[in-house]
Amino acid sequence: MDSFEWNKIAGWVLTAAIAVLGLSIVTGMIYAPHAPEKPGYIVEGVELEADAAGPAAEAEKPIAFYLASANLEKGANVFKKCAACHTITPGGANGIGPNLYATVGKSHAHVAGFAYSSAMLETKGKTWDFDGLNEWLKSPKAYIPGNKMSFAGLGKPQDRADVIAYLNSQGSNLPLPAVPAETAAAAPADTAAPGGTVTPAAEKTPVLPGKAPDVAEAEINAATAAQPQNNRGGPGASDVTGTAKNEKQ
Ligand code: HEC
Repeated sequence: MDSFEWNKIAGWVLTAAIAVLGLSIVTGMIYAPHAPEKPGYIVEGVELEADAAGPAAEAEKPIAFYLASANLEKGANVFKKCAACHTITPGGANGIGPNLYATVGKSHAHVAGFAYSSAMLETKGKTWDFDGLNEWLKSPKAYIPGNKMSFAGLGKPQDRADVIAYLNSQGSNLPLPAVPAETAAAAPADTAAPGGTVTPAAEKTPVLPGKAPDVAEAEINAATAAQPQNNRGGPGASDVTGTAKNEKQ
């Protein structure tokens, strides 16, 4: 009697265990995790662009250099990335971020009625000058750790200069900073096309072709070449493999 009861209990426990195992296998098959091919939401980022720019990215000049050839139209275009969160019209509504009209030259966190982060409020004594804006837009989280602007940053200095010049043109109109002497010599002031920008010399440096893609390709080729021989099994498999081999030779 007793042992019979115990057998019943053991049986139920075993059944439950098998059921759980089976369920987890089935759900695993149904809900196989897929890494998305592309991340769903890409914020233009320092990290991403720094990769693309390669070694040339290190040779960045002071922002005044890029501002000297800044292009307002391009800046307005870059601002589209900001417009998801910011308006820039006079008296424009605050969105996820504060209204940015006439922000250049104002103190940090100057917009009344916007709920700034405490990290931003702690820097209230600072002014949004050209250098500050440059650092901020390069990497908001590096410039003011703990702030709540969810924006990775603009990797290209000319993009930053263009958008800063655009911000400045919207209600501030401060004189652009003078280009420092050592970079002024390199600044091709007279080659600036009408309304166009000059690509800084550093960005023209040819980027050496990376090794990585070749290696990856070679590996893929090797993998596909190896496949016909493997992955075959069961009745009739030898025929199939045989033809596959013949085709190859
Ligand atoms: C995802 C939304 C978002 C995007 C995109 C964004 N911002 Fe912001 N921005 C914010 C928020 C939120 C704050 C307030 C940060 C805080 O209080 O910590 C802010 C603050 C700022 C400030 C400081 C304003 C002040 O009153 O002190 C400036 C300047 C600024 N952003 C410029 C830009 C520019 C230029 C871009 C585009 C290149 C941009 N932002 C993109 C959300 C955003």
